[in-house]
Amino acid sequence: MIKTPHKTRKIAPEIHWVGVKDWNRRMFDRLIPLPNGTSYNSYLVQGNEKIALIDGVNPGFEDKLEEKVQQLIDPKEIDYFIMNHAEPDHASAISHMLSISNNGKILTTEKGKGLAQSLYHISEDKIRAVEDRETLKLGGKTLKFIHAPWLHWPETMLTYCEEEEILFPCDFFGSHLATGKFFDEELGDELINLAKSYYGEIMMPFSKMVGRALDKIKQLDISTIAPSHGPIYKDPEKIMNSYRKWSEGRVEKKALIIYISMWGSTEKLVETISETIASEGIEVTPLNLATTDLGKLAEELVDSAGIIIGTPTVLGGAHPKIHHVAYLAKKLNPPAKFLGIVESHGWSGGAVSQLSEMLGGMDAEVVGAIDVLGSPREELDEVVSLGKNFSEKIRNM
Ligand code: FEO
Repeated sequence: MIKTPHKTRKIAPEIHWVGVKDWNRRMFDRLIPLPNGTSYNSYLVQGNEKIALIDGVNPGFEDKLEEKVQQLIDPKEIDYFIMNHAEPDHASAISHMLSISNNGKILTTEKGKGLAQSLYHISEDKIRAVEDRETLKLGGKTLKFIHAPWLHWPETMLTYCEEEEILFPCDFFGSHLATGKFFDEELGDELINLAKSYYGEIMMPFSKMVGRALDKIKQLDISTIAPSHGPIYKDPEKIMNSYRKWSEGRVEKKALIIYISMWGSTEKLVETISETIASEGIEVTPLNLATTDLGKLAEELVDSAGIIIGTPTVLGGAHPKIHHVAYLAKKLNPPAKFLGIVESHGWSGGAVSQLSEMLGGMDAEVVGAIDVLGSPREELDEVVSLGKNFSEKIRNM
């Protein structure tokens, strides 16, 4: 059998990327689309005295990780497995690597310790909980652990290499992309859009915790950010500033319209309101859920000032695809300031009241809701008025 040579990559003296690229994965958590695949970045840090592996890879790639580490050292010699996050795409392969090590130990937070036991059945004596800001000397390389909960589970922490000024933040600052390119400078603005979509999907529900983590790492000199998904940042300022803006809910003067249409009536409402908003000089993005994926939706939710939902009534409520997305959009906690709903129905309505109830509690002003019987005609005047009001609100926010 021909063995594929899996490549490692040096990112700093005695620090190597030993992760894997999952070129063919198309869905994460059975929810998030991955049109560009993803990567699981694992890093081997070789000190003069001790060796640490930071994060692991997804189930199914354990052998590749082992083979890559083998190219650099004997995997049995790893002393510390740094588990920044317990989700299986990073942590499940750690249990494999631990099983072949001589005396390795997992280092994680107290909550991570519990998850390592419950998810991977690792015995307690093989895990040590580290304190916030605790340092670990490997000999010429010092790792500092920074507790940063809810990025993206409650146990998460960040690891910082003091000598090389590299931050290993696991999911934080990640992006879902499998590519031959390794660093941000090779990708340009395309990477920020991918990072924004990822932020919307994974980090936006925890924006307050994102802000706290950004405050916490402000004191560090960071020259490189090496996340556990996607490319490595040699220019950390750009992504850190973007995260600051997104986490503070600094929205752009733009409207997002999420809609679906069955027989064209809702489409007419959406066309009318989109053209009105555009003619008022406000940027507008209509996303037809029949053709748009959740990644694009999440990206737009991150910084849209207003959201309008367009739906037909189906079985007494919103179209099920709209129902699903409205539920998700609320859970993602977008910073939108204004909401609107347009509905078309054939014989009985229900979508407006259902969506109003569902979206209640969002910290956004409902600018208007319009329910139209059948194919809209004179009602389009009302839709134009709503579009003008909506634009005015955004313009003056
Ligand atoms: Fe990449 Fe939350 O795991």
